[in-house]
Amino acid sequence: MVVGHLFLNKRVMANNKTGFTSSFGVIMAAAGSAVGLGNIWRFPYICGQYGGAACLFVYLLFVFLIGMVLLMTEFVIGRRSGFSPEKAFPALYPKRPSWKMVGLFGMFTCFLILAIYLVISGWTLGYFWESLTGTLASIADDGFKAHFDAFVASPWKPVVFLVIFLIFTLLVILGGVQKGIEKVSKLLMPILLVLVLLLCVRSLTLPGASKGLAYLFHPDFSLLTWDGILAILGQALFSLSVGMGAMIVYGSYIPRDSNILKNAMWITVCDVSIAVLAGIAIFPAVFAAGQNPADGPGLVYQVLPVVFNSLGTVGQVFAVLFFLLLVLAALTSAISLLETLTAWLADKGMKRKVAAVIITLIEVVLGIFVAYSFTGGPLSDITPGGKNFFDWANDLTGAYLPPIGALLTVIFFGWVMKKEDIYDELSNHGVLKISWFKVFYHILVRFVAPAALLVSLIASILT
Ligand code: PFF
Repeated sequence: MVVGHLFLNKRVMANNKTGFTSSFGVIMAAAGSAVGLGNIWRFPYICGQYGGAACLFVYLLFVFLIGMVLLMTEFVIGRRSGFSPEKAFPALYPKRPSWKMVGLFGMFTCFLILAIYLVISGWTLGYFWESLTGTLASIADDGFKAHFDAFVASPWKPVVFLVIFLIFTLLVILGGVQKGIEKVSKLLMPILLVLVLLLCVRSLTLPGASKGLAYLFHPDFSLLTWDGILAILGQALFSLSVGMGAMIVYGSYIPRDSNILKNAMWITVCDVSIAVLAGIAIFPAVFAAGQNPADGPGLVYQVLPVVFNSLGTVGQVFAVLFFLLLVLAALTSAISLLETLTAWLADKGMKRKVAAVIITLIEVVLGIFVAYSFTGGPLSDITPGGKNFFDWANDLTGAYLPPIGALLTVIFFGWVMKKEDIYDELSNHGVLKISWFKVFYHILVRFVAPAALLVSLIASILT
């Protein structure tokens, strides 16, 4: 396989495919993909719903035992093959070209996730704009729910902001892997960290903040239901952007001398830290303003504006910072989704820029369908099987598709790919010592991860 692999890499160079320039670039770009709406909008609310620290404990277990294993798996598949998912699997196991279906399945998942992601990012950009122009500050405390409902049902607002957000995303992709994705990620990720830390400090110094901390860190195992465990697993995969091939694409951009295991560990630590910090920024503030912390998806758009308004002028500044944080986090994630789909078409021979524009146009259409499906929206009456488009896409991409993709990927890695190839790739052709990894490989990759994914998938289908 080593011969084939060298050949593949020659082909990659002939193809003018550029990769990231350094391990730092890899970590920033992949952490940019991982840290997103999932961390700041979804994770705190899931934690609140399923027992605070009890949820956190299970989340950490899933993230480090399954999520990180998948991250490393996808990086190896990507760098070893030099391809995006559809070509990567058959390149590593030419005997069965049908493994490309796993790659195609991932592309389908990415299409759907990006559509939902763009809609929520569009709302966030809209709220950022409204916090900047003072619109949010002029709304009375009991008016935020009606404001949010009117915003999402508007025939133009969500679409306009979605398109603006998508144009920014496209511009980064058109800039290329190094000058677009890597550069932007290196710039935005540190800003994001500063923003979230600032918000934490403000939140923790509010009177009554300790109640919010207790809510987040007090373990209540009675709330940790079976449903909750599945939701937490789904969240762990979604949050690390694994199970849909995105990290295979970023893996194909990792420099040959970069340490994949170390990268995967750093990215996971970044992802978890930002999620926990987001919880620390949000819950104390919510409690201090006497709001309901279990408000779920509406928390960010309906509850936090009340919190910001209760803080006066400073609150307005923090509203701007918070929505900016959310927009930036969403942007670096949307970038990786658009890049994954672009790389897929580019590997099929299409010009990169043409591919990026085509995917963008398709996503505008998909995004409009999703955006218009909310109550009061132009397509809200279309509910096949009793669900609107958003719920369909959200349920599929939250609970089912990533775990299925993850299961197939980890089976390929643990049972189909040659062990020697994996060791060779992870050790950078024998340069790095990975003896400790070999023990983990047998236990985690071949047994624990597939078994956990299979059990949870069966359970989620049964429930
Ligand atoms: N990890 C992102 C989040 O937590 O918001 C979501 C995501 C981005 C999933 C990119 C998949 C992906 F390819």
